[in-house]
Amino acid sequence: MHGDTNHGRAMNTPLKFRPAARSPGENDLREISERFFSDLADLTGDGVGISRATFGDGETKAMNYVARLAEAEGLGCWRDPAANLVIELPGLDTEAPYIICGSHLDSVPQGGNYDGAAGVLAGLLALIRLRRAGIVPPRTVRVMALRGEESAWFGVCYLGSSALFGQLASDDMARPHRDTGKPLRHYMTEAGAAVDRIAAGDVLVDPKSVAAYLELHIEQGPVMMARGFPVAVVTGLRGNIRHQNVVCRGEAGHAGAVPRWLRKDAVLAAADLLSRYDEHWRALNERGMDLVLTAGIIATNPAEHAMSRIPGECGFSLEVRSQSIDTLETFYQLVRSEADAVGRERGVGFDFGLRSLTEPAVMDQRWVNHLLTICDRLGLGREALPSGAGHDAAVFANAGVPSAMIFVRNDHGSHNPEEAMDLDDFLKGADVLFNALLEPPL
Ligand code: GLV
Ligand code: MN
Ligand code: MN
Repeated sequence: MHGDTNHGRAMNTPLKFRPAARSPGENDLREISERFFSDLADLTGDGVGISRATFGDGETKAMNYVARLAEAEGLGCWRDPAANLVIELPGLDTEAPYIICGSHLDSVPQGGNYDGAAGVLAGLLALIRLRRAGIVPPRTVRVMALRGEESAWFGVCYLGSSALFGQLASDDMARPHRDTGKPLRHYMTEAGAAVDRIAAGDVLVDPKSVAAYLELHIEQGPVMMARGFPVAVVTGLRGNIRHQNVVCRGEAGHAGAVPRWLRKDAVLAAADLLSRYDEHWRALNERGMDLVLTAGIIATNPAEHAMSRIPGECGFSLEVRSQSIDTLETFYQLVRSEADAVGRERGVGFDFGLRSLTEPAVMDQRWVNHLLTICDRLGLGREALPSGAGHDAAVFANAGVPSAMIFVRNDHGSHNPEEAMDLDDFLKGADVLFNALLEPPL
């Protein structure tokens, strides 16, 4: 599976990082991390935040940068058939299933610098520490810098990890890029992915060959800040059902000339529908069901919309998340039946387009306990919490790979330029990951 290294022009970016000749102390790790995040921000800043487009330029620049760091440390690395970056440190038993430390290198448009990249660096730091100290871990460790975790660019998430298990549908590969309209398949080809194998559902990684998948990630909600936890262990992840663009079609008309009873206003219909969803959401929450709902995009066509025109068409995105697949599917029935009802009452139609389902995931109890014990030993307490956000760990867990996650405290939420992770917290989380590799519970 050693593929083309395909480093591209971003490899010429000046490399500030210099490997030290001795085993790294805390200051070295801090210096490496500071430079890493500052170099990534320089390489992929967009003037407002960070933009590392899925299978696009920013993601590739970041990936090439990580590859250079790994190579400067004498670590072997290659691109897999899904164009993810793999960095390997062989363990004592090279025949036995290996451990993956993974996360992603893409970001949402105008996002933050830590979502995904922190986990890739944490894995790389663990390999650097092991290699520089001359420690051969019990199992081979592979750091994976995954592509395409964010749904923001093509409307579907977990692309680089789903492709590994033959789960990236060819329908999804036809999805258009948010800005250019070119299909995902085009960008995957440009990045060097084996698109025909992926479209054919080839299994690129046998789940049985992977002993565990570990992912460090910033917490993307406010809980750890509020509770004062620098590091926590994740118990499970919400799944989601999504529609990237639900189109509501009514009838355009003169804003002053059409009485209410003859109107087919697409915006009011969409607003009515979304308020009905909000009401069902509140009722289900009151019954203790885990559910969140977001319509992050809502728009009329700027080429034709006007203050004095009844909107004939309106598009909106819809995502529903829950830790329970039953809750997701139950709510989804309401989503569709309410759309039919609003359609009948207001004389409009809703075209939902492609649906995507990402299953919720449960983390492996043995690994959760192992990570909690390490946290305790390092004086970080034993804090466990579920993840509201999605992560590639869900794909590995649902493919049958024992998976676990370490969360690092982060301020101002995520998917925005204000993400703020304290380097002290990051180094604590990275230390938990490093320690987890020394005595894996296998
Ligand atoms: C991942 O970034 C998500 O949207 O949960
Ligand atoms: Mn994200
Ligand atoms: Mn992420």
